[in-house]
Amino acid sequence: MPGSILSEAEKSRAAAFRSCTARRLFVAGRVLCRSILANRLGCAPQALCLAITPSGRPYLRDYPDIDFNLSHTKDRVALAICRGGSIGIDIERLDAFSEQEASEIMPMILSEQELNQVDQLDERHRRDVFLAYWVQKEAALKCFGQGFLANPQSVILTSENATNGSKAQVLGEAIFIHSGRISDGESRGFQWAIATSNATARPQWQHHKSGIFF
Ligand SMILES: CC(C)(COP(=O)(O)OP(=O)(O)OC[C@H]1O[C@@H](n2cnc3c(N)ncnc32)[C@H](O)[C@@H]1OP(=O)(O)O)[C@@H](O)C(=O)NCCC(=O)NCCS
Repeated sequence: MPGSILSEAEKSRAAAFRSCTARRLFVAGRVLCRSILANRLGCAPQALCLAITPSGRPYLRDYPDIDFNLSHTKDRVALAICRGGSIGIDIERLDAFSEQEASEIMPMILSEQELNQVDQLDERHRRDVFLAYWVQKEAALKCFGQGFLANPQSVILTSENATNGSKAQVLGEAIFIHSGRISDGESRGFQWAIATSNATARPQWQHHKSGIFF
């Protein structure tokens, strides 16, 4: 049973979810990262100690040189790993927001300059470009360790091309971003972003349908 590789704390957390989907995504994420990290490190998945920072960020207590980050959306779990520096990942469905919802959330996430840029676009492109900004900002804030405890408007994206990403400043620190889209043939697809604190880090990432673990 894949779930048996979880720690006692992870099993208790899984049991506390009221939503079956949320529980499934949490378990799938932990099984994915324990399996892949253990394979890389040459140890048993259940031997890894996944500690959690006060802001909720999981990390490998015994391997300070290796960082990882998880993201999930609906039926998808994504894991990014890097050696040296820290990493953040975000994945969202392209239809995560309606055009109306995107318009309502934008002013809370985008800087004034970004908002002006997005306002020049037609409605559909506005939503897609906003989603690209969103995942890059969330990945940068997760790399930084704060998540949305920090203000997303404080993430300044310096890319010419909002869809592919390149660089960001978070509270004066440089963060390097890769971003793109994937399609699964069933839905409109997903927008993803990976942020690293180290320009030369070669992040590796993979995504899975959460159902594969059950
Ligand atoms: C980090 C955050 C943006 C993730 O939001 P989300 O909608 O759950 O997005 P994702 O699916 O992309 O990411 C979830 C994963 O990010 C990781 N994560 C959690 N907190 C994190 C943080 N502060 N920094 C980086 N990664 C974090 C976890 O692995 C989590 O998955 P898990 O709970 O299954 O282990 C959001 O949880 C947040 O802003 N957290 C910080 C503030 C907070 O509420 N803390 C409360 C706990 S102390």
